[in-house]
Amino acid sequence: MTFTEKDEALVKESWDIMKQNIPEYSLRFFSIILEIAPAAKNMFSFLRDSEEVPQNNPKLKAHAIKVFKMTCESAIQLREKGEVVVGETTLKYLGAIHLKNGVIDPHFEVVKQALLRTIEEASGDKWSEELKCAWSVAYDHLAAAIKAEMKE
Ligand code: HEM
Repeated sequence: MTFTEKDEALVKESWDIMKQNIPEYSLRFFSIILEIAPAAKNMFSFLRDSEEVPQNNPKLKAHAIKVFKMTCESAIQLREKGEVVVGETTLKYLGAIHLKNGVIDPHFEVVKQALLRTIEEASGDKWSEELKCAWSVAYDHLAAAIKAEMKE
């Protein structure tokens, strides 16, 4: 698939909506992750020891923002260069932190589904197949780069 200017604009537009309410959408994002994969709870330091997904937790928000923002940056790179290039230091760090925390390939699919559902809820009647596809493609490229680093 060629990543068009329209695809990039769609991704940016939904990230702009998300940014306006990070506490709510990051909470939704993690709630959906745990709905799909309850066992993932034990991997996250900020979920492990609490009964419920904690509200306004800085680490939870940081991870949600990273996933959304880096996917958005990947969309920009896909449109500009036709590929996603994560800086070497960042990629090394991402590979190491996920390996250390016990993340395996299927988890990336769980996070993808949670990401798409959160965007669907946030974008209301702006949601479309095209929008879904643009986020999916950008996320898949980013996830592939991290997964490859984890196998190094
Ligand atoms: C930590 C990014 C996917 C689980 C981190 C950190 C970053 C990051 C930057 C360092 C801590 C921080 O700044 O918040 C990403 C990105 C992803 C991704 C960009 C996908 C595109 C995943 C997936 C899982 C996962 C699929 C597993 C379901 C974790 C865990 C930590 C972590 C358990 C340690 C957090 C803690 O306990 O404090 N991730 N991540 N991540 N990530 Fe990811």
